[in-house]
Amino acid sequence: MTEILPDETKRFVRAAVAEPDETLQAMEERGEDFPTVGREVGQFLRLLAYAVDAERIFEFGSGFGYSAYWFAEALPEDGEIVLTEYDADELDEAREYLEAGGFADRATFENGDANEIVDHHDGPFDVVLIDHNKDGYPEAWESIREKVAPGGVVIADNAMVAGRQDFDAILDAIEGGNPEMNENTRGIVEYLLAVRDDPDFETSAIPLGEGIAVSYRR
Ligand SMILES: C[S@@+](CC[C@H](N)C(=O)[O-])C[C@H]1O[C@@H](n2cnc3c(N)ncnc32)[C@H](O)[C@@H]1O
Repeated sequence: MTEILPDETKRFVRAAVAEPDETLQAMEERGEDFPTVGREVGQFLRLLAYAVDAERIFEFGSGFGYSAYWFAEALPEDGEIVLTEYDADELDEAREYLEAGGFADRATFENGDANEIVDHHDGPFDVVLIDHNKDGYPEAWESIREKVAPGGVVIADNAMVAGRQDFDAILDAIEGGNPEMNENTRGIVEYLLAVRDDPDFETSAIPLGEGIAVSYRR
């Protein structure tokens, strides 16, 4: 897989992030064989939530709650984060971790397909994380873009690399080429082109973790 940052830069970025709390450290141990967003992206997600004074957050693909836990601390006590996850056991773990941190009362746990669940939740959302099946990103974007509050942000993880997507093909396609693509690669490409060309949003690709696309609603 393409490395998006040189090792020294990765070390620098890691060293600049404060140690997370004990629960997050336990979640990182749990996540050694699971594709969480990772510490650097997790902390950046929380920074964004603080920066936009987030009150409501929606996640597509929550796993066992690692990214949600980072977000939860930035929410006010009456704030809400909606977690969505296919896997009921992972969602139970997320509940336990958020309870351990004292954040479970800010969380709504939804078991099922995030691209269907989103239709049952009205906006506005201040922050959205898209981190589920890569071929589902374009549909997620269409479902959520109108529900993002002006001044809110949408973050897509794996904007550059992930297990079954092709970095070179993504780069070629967003530069205007027409490469062969598997469904995951195509999902990311369609997503990146949609957010880049959406006049209501301002988007940057940031080479943190596996690459994130951050889109701000004007
Ligand atoms: C990359 S992991 C999420 C990691 C999480 N955001 C974190 O950083 O801790 C992706 C998760 O999305 C779930 N998933 C994939 N497609 C989904 C869908 N359409 N609806 C709900 N969950 C989905 C998978 O089961 C997996 O647990």
